[in-house]
Amino acid sequence: LVERVAACTRCGLRAGCTQTVFGVGDRAAEWLVVGEAPGAEEDACGEPFTGPAGQLLDAMLAAIDLPRQSVFITNALKCRPPEDRDPRPAELAECLPYLAEQVAMVKPKIILAFGRVAAQNLLATDATLGALRGVVHHYGPSSIPVVVTYHPAYLLRSPGEKRKAWEDLKFARRTHAANDAVPS
Ligand code: URA
Repeated sequence: LVERVAACTRCGLRAGCTQTVFGVGDRAAEWLVVGEAPGAEEDACGEPFTGPAGQLLDAMLAAIDLPRQSVFITNALKCRPPEDRDPRPAELAECLPYLAEQVAMVKPKIILAFGRVAAQNLLATDATLGALRGVVHHYGPSSIPVVVTYHPAYLLRSPGEKRKAWEDLKFARRTHAANDAVPS
């Protein structure tokens, strides 16, 4: 799958980015973290969430006792959009099957969606991020629980919302713990 993503030219983004950003972390992780798309730093180094938003993401994960290397981190899009514009629906439609395959391979116990793009595309909905927070959604044939929170880049611009993100993270931790109690 890593090789197929690296060779992918299904949408036009690959021509304008440095490299694909597949994802990183524990391939048998219980937690799968999904963001939007690589930015400049991620495009340069090939690893998701390594810029300023990544530092906040790491702090958010650490707050619920999850070291970065204990989770698997990826994005809805594997290629950086030019000038970090919003991903287009057609680009997401081409790329999302790779995310579905990643979920099927990692088999996480919970998916944490950071931001509107990750949440709406995982859940195939137009609902606002505000409406998606605080509820356990489910993804795919195995009905993996999905919890939605704000994107760290948004929190850097709107630090007043961090308190709500903390509520979401605690909710995710409780959801994971409750799910863990059920034998699979
Ligand atoms: N923002 C994202 O959504 N993903 C990254 O990898 C970096 C910034």
